[in-house]
Amino acid sequence: MSIIEKAAAIGGGVIGAGWVARLLLNGIDVAIYDPDPEADRKVAEVMKGARRAYKQMVPGGLPKEGKLTFAKTIAEAVKDADFIQESVPERLDLKHKVLAEIDAHAPANAIIGSSTSGILPSDMQVAMKRHPERLVVGHPFNPVYLLPLVEIVGGKETFPEAVEVAREIYESIGMKPVVIRKEIEAFVGDRLLEAAWREALWLVKDDIVTVEELDDIMRYSFGIRWAQMGMFQVYRVAGGEAGMRHFMAQFGPCLKWPWTKLMDVPELTDELVDKIAEQSDAQAHGLSIRQLERIRDDNLVAIMEALSKQNKGKGWGAGALHNDYTKRLAKLASNKPKASKAAVKAKAEKPVKKAKTPKKKKG
Ligand SMILES: NC(=O)c1ccc[n+]([C@@H]2O[C@H](COP(=O)([O-])OP(=O)(O)OC[C@H]3O[C@@H](n4cnc5c(N)ncnc54)[C@H](O)[C@@H]3O)[C@@H](O)[C@H]2O)c1
Repeated sequence: MSIIEKAAAIGGGVIGAGWVARLLLNGIDVAIYDPDPEADRKVAEVMKGARRAYKQMVPGGLPKEGKLTFAKTIAEAVKDADFIQESVPERLDLKHKVLAEIDAHAPANAIIGSSTSGILPSDMQVAMKRHPERLVVGHPFNPVYLLPLVEIVGGKETFPEAVEVAREIYESIGMKPVVIRKEIEAFVGDRLLEAAWREALWLVKDDIVTVEELDDIMRYSFGIRWAQMGMFQVYRVAGGEAGMRHFMAQFGPCLKWPWTKLMDVPELTDELVDKIAEQSDAQAHGLSIRQLERIRDDNLVAIMEALSKQNKGKGWGAGALHNDYTKRLAKLASNKPKASKAAVKAKAEKPVKKAKTPKKKKG
């Protein structure tokens, strides 16, 4: 299924090992280089978890697992790779050193992805003397073997063809690539996460909530909504029948109230409102607010049911709550079946008779 046969992973920590797992489980041979003497043990641990997860996620079976080899140098790891994913620590000097070495020894047509969380690809590819045009950022989310999103970002030197091939490669290993239109630090996912995280740190620092309370506020509410629809479509539905424009008119002004420590917000000009409303229309693909509501609700139930089966059946987070709730409902129902069955029977018989043979009024 994949368009690559051999890959190289440079760096086998949290993220690198996650890439190794995703690649191997998709049937691709991987050569890894990591100077950590414990790298093989750590990668084996991640592989164990990944195999277990894939058994549940893909019960129909997977391709024959790829072969993993540990290389002694970067040159040895990349020499015959079609695709190389760099996942070394987040330091520009180290990225320069490692990418220069990868570039010097990889086949000329190999695509190089960097896992960096926020460094601009243009700032990294200056160290590549042979083929800087084949570098893209391929920013994943942990755990890489399960979460499908990868942000692809090209730098000033990156060829559009390299972005396209990278997209095909990531798609072929079960991922959802999104090509970021302009190169910015921290890309998109981490910008959103950092904004929320900054605010969360203020709320905890100011003793408004504990970290557990804050996490509960997320995971019992909009966290589940985000998981199934994202931000804009959820707000579109929240706008009621009038949709996104109404939502923006109602809640847009709040952005300027002191609800947040992040007061630097864009001016909601007509142009911006039009732009967002139009993009929201396009995103809906003609589905009405009611249809979207049903999809949203079905998705929410499905996610909660899925979570309710976790943790050996006890449920996890909102799934545990869902279990308690459904158990309570079942108990309530089992307390009154006789009465309600009898009542239902009586009701079912009486009205029919009444309707067919209405009694004459006395007097
Ligand atoms: N941790 C996350 O949640 C996350 C998410 C997305 C992206 N990233 C990015 O992924 C990259 C790696 O982060 P991580 O969390 O896996 O870090 P990590 O510290 O877990 O792993 C880094 C690995 O690189 C190895 N390494 C160090 N020097 C090396 C070299 N010269 N050649 C090869 N390997 C070398 C280390 O031994 C270590 O095993 C960073 O750029 C980070 O920003 C991290």
